[in-house]
Amino acid sequence: AGVFTYDPGFTSTASCDSTITYIDGDQGELWYRGYPIEQLAAKSNYLETCYLLLYGELPNPAQMADFDARVTRHTMVHEQMHNFYRGFRRDAHPMATMVGVVGAMSAFYHDSVDINDPVQREVASIRLIAKMPTIAAMAYKYSIGQPFVYPDNELDYASNFLKMCFSVPAEKYTVNPALAKAMDRIMMLHADHEQNASTSTVRLAGSSGANPFACIAAGIACLWGPAHGGANQAALEMLRQIGSVDRIPEYIAKAKDKNDPFKLMGFGHRVYKNFDPRAKVMKESADEVLDLLGFHNNPTLQVAKELEKIALEDPYFIEKKLYPNVDFYSGIILEAMGFPTSMFTPIFAISRTVGWIAQWKEMIADPQNKIGRPRQLYVGADRRDYVDLKSR
Ligand code: CMC
Repeated sequence: AGVFTYDPGFTSTASCDSTITYIDGDQGELWYRGYPIEQLAAKSNYLETCYLLLYGELPNPAQMADFDARVTRHTMVHEQMHNFYRGFRRDAHPMATMVGVVGAMSAFYHDSVDINDPVQREVASIRLIAKMPTIAAMAYKYSIGQPFVYPDNELDYASNFLKMCFSVPAEKYTVNPALAKAMDRIMMLHADHEQNASTSTVRLAGSSGANPFACIAAGIACLWGPAHGGANQAALEMLRQIGSVDRIPEYIAKAKDKNDPFKLMGFGHRVYKNFDPRAKVMKESADEVLDLLGFHNNPTLQVAKELEKIALEDPYFIEKKLYPNVDFYSGIILEAMGFPTSMFTPIFAISRTVGWIAQWKEMIADPQNKIGRPRQLYVGADRRDYVDLKSR
């Protein structure tokens, strides 16, 4: 017995102190280590943002070069892992493959699983950030029956990922710098988001002392759900299903109907009760990329723009403060780049890995850290006596 605060969904429970990310949901503000996301999106790049999230400050040129070199050194995965991939069915969702492969990393990298050793923690962190694009690209290549493409350490983080996904050994491949920049921005916008479901999962898993690869695998599993990272895939599939502007009212009506489980994917957020600041940047990026690729008349984008306009003027969405979130526009960019919808959430997972790690490291280093162990209000049967099988 005892008196507990009952808070399903943790809508009003803070589980930790954190110095990493700040969100003001009413104002629609997001800061990484104090820097507004809009400034980072305009001026920084993903790897520099990783450094900022992990170490708390922007790097000087020497620190940046050192970090870049450390990450780049670890981009390849253990050769034996290729066999591990081959154990999966070809039609496995890349997120399923990633949960397995990342979880298995502890079996491949024994020298980075002692969480009490800060050097091992650091090696595990760098390995995860460096290998995640390779792991996701391999999951994709495996699913389409093409050979795995090794990382190219001459390229920046985003370009390398695009090359591993879209090149084949038989042909020369040149990364389009504008697309690499758009990919880098998508990664930066997803890098951290304080105590969301997957990050809380990583912290909870880590609070027992589990190794970092197992914790990140748990985060990937949680991210996959359509209410969280899976929303980018679900949002694009919804836009395609709507198909044309004249069918929007029908879907708006479904979303408002209490008896219909349908929700507008890419709309609403637990914390933002205003425009998601990431969605604003993403919307600009979507316009740029689609212009660049000659997709301005893309029907999916037209449905997205019209849907956003109608929803923002609808009393239901206004009253419930439902605004487009980051996932509403990211899928359109990724589709234009040539990614299948099944790769949208893996790209979110690559991007969020640094946030998960920064939060995990912060937790391990916190002297107040103890195992996460929520309580419950028991509402089950009263004490009763066992009845033998024959007598039931
Ligand atoms: N379409 C229609 N109605 C909605 C929507 C939506 N997308 N989102 C929330 N509502 C309604 C909801 O039915 C509820 O109505 P009522 O008060 O009458 O019961 C009210 O708005 C409050 O919503 P809630 O579900 O209680 O809020 P929550 O904080 O538990 O859920 C959410 C937040 C993001 C899970 C939810 O808005 C949702 O499912 N959105 C669609 C999925 C999505 O886009 N997820 C991505 C989130 S951003 C990226 C990430 O962090 O992963």
